[in-house]
Amino acid sequence: MSDKVIIFDTTLRDGEQSPGASMNKDEKLRIARQLERLKVDVIEAGFAASSNGDFDAVQCIAKAIKDSTVCSLSRANDRDISRAAEALKGANSSRIHTFIATSALHMEKKLRMTPDQVFEQAKLAVRFARNLVADVEFSPEDGYRSDVDFLCRIIEAVINEGATTINVPDTVGYAIPELYGNFIKNLRERVPNSDKAIWSVHCHNDLGMAVANSLAGVKIGGARQIECTINGLGERAGNCSLEEVVMAIRTRRDYFGLDLGIDTKHILAASRMVSQTTGFVVQPNKAVVGANAFAHASGIHQDGVLKARDTYEIMRAEDVGWSNNKIILGKLSGRNAFKQRLQELGVQMEAEADINTAFARFKELADRKSEIFDEDILALVNDEAVTNENEQYRFVSLSQHSETGERPQASIVFTVAGKEVKSASDGDGPVDASLKAIEAQVKSGAEMVLYSVNAISGSTESQGEVTVRLQNSGRVVNGVGSDPDIIVASAKAYLSALNKLQSKADRVAAQG
Ligand code: KIV
Ligand code: ZN
Repeated sequence: MSDKVIIFDTTLRDGEQSPGASMNKDEKLRIARQLERLKVDVIEAGFAASSNGDFDAVQCIAKAIKDSTVCSLSRANDRDISRAAEALKGANSSRIHTFIATSALHMEKKLRMTPDQVFEQAKLAVRFARNLVADVEFSPEDGYRSDVDFLCRIIEAVINEGATTINVPDTVGYAIPELYGNFIKNLRERVPNSDKAIWSVHCHNDLGMAVANSLAGVKIGGARQIECTINGLGERAGNCSLEEVVMAIRTRRDYFGLDLGIDTKHILAASRMVSQTTGFVVQPNKAVVGANAFAHASGIHQDGVLKARDTYEIMRAEDVGWSNNKIILGKLSGRNAFKQRLQELGVQMEAEADINTAFARFKELADRKSEIFDEDILALVNDEAVTNENEQYRFVSLSQHSETGERPQASIVFTVAGKEVKSASDGDGPVDASLKAIEAQVKSGAEMVLYSVNAISGSTESQGEVTVRLQNSGRVVNGVGSDPDIIVASAKAYLSALNKLQSKADRVAAQG
């Protein structure tokens, strides 16, 4: 058995299924490029048949990505599989991932199919897919809660049809590490042709065990592919977190004895990019990528780390992309220094025009903020990339007045399709007044379901990063904005969310 574990990233498919995390084509492409830099083996770019938007995103990623395999999900039917194959046409290396539910509950209540019908459909789907591409993954959805005899029968049949990867999802996050590990082991022992496919784990985090279950699937079960997402993004409590599972295997190589192709120093930039794009903030105590993951606050710990770093650190912060170089640039810094810092942070900007725009924004920020941290630069480039697209609305300027005992007032200037408009309102607080001023003009009628502010770097001199989640006609979108002035950051976030509401997208749900 190979010692290499394949990292299959599904941030752009399963991660995106998280309510409010939907991304547009350009956002997905940017993340896909970062995943390629991270050297993930397989990028699940979307579910091509679910919507025209997803088809375009998969197609565009398939054409752009050269070093990772690009995959599309598809239900087990000819139409979905054909759409996936068509979207993947331009890829250097492509995979179709087809699935059908196999638990008694899902077959009876959701699919309204008998086990024999599911068995036939799975076989036909894999056969059809194998005629279109050489690399076919099959997932029995809700596999962990499925009858083992039935699962063995269906897995044996799809391997005979040419499935090259067998993925066993714990769709509802019900598994326990030891049980899940043994479940995979048992399947591999019982399926007669199990050695003809690579076995894969796909765990959800409903009981907080997605990473532990995935590791058990590898260690006990002998799986050699892990499906995961950046920051553990995903439906409900999310999926197995890429950064955690990767660093566990790498840090405890003494125990796992397994290799990975991942270039871990790009992890932090990937985490920031996904968080900024989706508005899903990373908690400070999150392993590997949380702001406190390598911070030592207590005197005893600080003293220990200064004397010998491994007293309290099991990983090197630099290995996952944290920099020692905290205060980096200021208003006297030149374009070359800025460009070099972007490279060190793993941000790739090829077009000179893009670097110039980002540098102009950096200068603007440096005029207002004396110390520019790595976090500020990452927020700035992410902000720029997000606002460049779908620019129906763009922030220009804002003034507001608030005083104890008086009702706050805000007046704002922003552009609508390139044309400047002004608006003013009062509100319960200055943020409320500013967003009401925008709404007075735009009249979106959207309901705000989340508003959150996060300090990008530690102090009151930090930029505020604001996430606004809006809901309208069944669609949920997130907007993110950052600025040293949190009221301006709020207005930018609101406009960014409105921009996303503009782009309509109807899609079919994967587990629907
Ligand atoms: O969780 C799940 O079962 C899935 C499948 C579609 C693989 O995401
Ligand atoms: Zn899933």
